[in-house]
Amino acid sequence: MAEGNHFDYLFKIVLAGDSGVGKSNLLSRFIRNEFNMESRSTIGVEFATRTITVNDKRIKAQVWDTAGQARYRAITAAYYRGAVGALLLYDVTNPSTFINVKQWVQELREHASPHIATLLIGNKADLGSLRAVSAQEAAAFAAENGMMFLETSALNTSNVESAFKSVLTDIY
Ligand code: GTP
Ligand code: MG
Repeated sequence: MAEGNHFDYLFKIVLAGDSGVGKSNLLSRFIRNEFNMESRSTIGVEFATRTITVNDKRIKAQVWDTAGQARYRAITAAYYRGAVGALLLYDVTNPSTFINVKQWVQELREHASPHIATLLIGNKADLGSLRAVSAQEAAAFAAENGMMFLETSALNTSNVESAFKSVLTDIY
């Protein structure tokens, strides 16, 4: 097998969070180093893979993405089945997306493995002047709910690698 295709572990990671928080752009930034300012709402389910090295092991991350909007969502049980990690996003400029994180945590509790490694992500951290959710408040919520926490920007790439690496490290 070619060196580039070799992997030691395959981990399914799911993206969750309200419509418009940037799930699909976080994914395209991580997989292809691409960002789209005018991306459309995801319809159905998509997934993409990338293999990265964590602690000297080649880990193939299979990252699943679906719509935040209920009417476009795929069947929930199948989406979460087998997932060992979750990235739960809100938009740091949009308080309602942070309030709704509680409902996404509930959905993970209902449909995902109780052991799923979860990282809470405040995305769009590049929009500092429009910030409406403080990092302190989000970090406290994450700690209370047993989640890790990071702020990212799919636009300027900050913390995108770290986000996927921290969830993969936590699983592994
Ligand atoms: P659904 O598929 O509807 O659930 O939305 P989504 O969570 O996949 O959001 P998507 O990635 O489509 O991004 C929504 C909008 O936010 C797009 O216009 C993106 O360009 C923009 N966006 C995503 N990430 C960032 C970011 O980090 N910074 C900024 N400034 N804009 C972002
Ligand atoms: Mg999307």
